[in-house]
Amino acid sequence: MKQLYENVFECTHPLIQHKITMLRNKDTGTNEFRSIVEEIAMLMGFEALQDLPTEDIEVETPIEKCMSPVIAGRKLAVVPILRAGLGMVPGILALTPSAKVGHIGMYRDEETFEPHEYFCKLPRPIEERIIVVTDPMLATGGSAIDAISQIKKHGGKRIKFLSIIAAPAGIEKLHSVHPDVEVYIGHVDRCLNESAYICPGLGDAGDRIFGTK
Ligand code: PRP
Ligand code: URA
Repeated sequence: MKQLYENVFECTHPLIQHKITMLRNKDTGTNEFRSIVEEIAMLMGFEALQDLPTEDIEVETPIEKCMSPVIAGRKLAVVPILRAGLGMVPGILALTPSAKVGHIGMYRDEETFEPHEYFCKLPRPIEERIIVVTDPMLATGGSAIDAISQIKKHGGKRIKFLSIIAAPAGIEKLHSVHPDVEVYIGHVDRCLNESAYICPGLGDAGDRIFGTK
């Protein structure tokens, strides 16, 4: 992992980078795209959750009793930003099958690029959980910033944000508004174009995951 700012990391693992290249390819179809998003989310989740708290419990092996660690504390909350963030949820749940799942619905106005929230349902007590927010694309940063503000308004405190591809401007803005949030990026791309799409990026993540183009 490469540290970009305090609390902001790029997941430089070759397996993640290889899979991102496959996502970028315009000829990668919906079925394969969905599977790869899931795999990348799992690999990124593995890195992002390396500081999960543990506690020792007693276990009896076929040889003898011993103390051995298990994950401690409240179950995690995974909160995808709809729609595209949904594609990353199975990858995180593969690591933490008993996590709770919340949802935040945001869409970006096609002309102003301003985010609009249309849904929010979070598992309680949200303030006692480590919260993993997912969205494959961090472009201007508006959607992630508003979604995280909403989670904080509901009491969320320990938030990790996972995004597969990000633009430098979006990362900087997200970090300046929410410096306490741990941000994990799969790849930092070059820039945004005049339609606020990430270049080179992978196109519209929601459309590619759900086949809605
Ligand atoms: C996309 C993406 C992010 C947002 C990123 O969602 O999944 O949520 O844009 O852009 P931003 O950083 O400039 O806010 P979109 O609004 O296209 O909705 P969708 O996932 O339902 O397609
Ligand atoms: N949303 C996407 O899905 N792709 C981008 O490049 C920017 C925002």
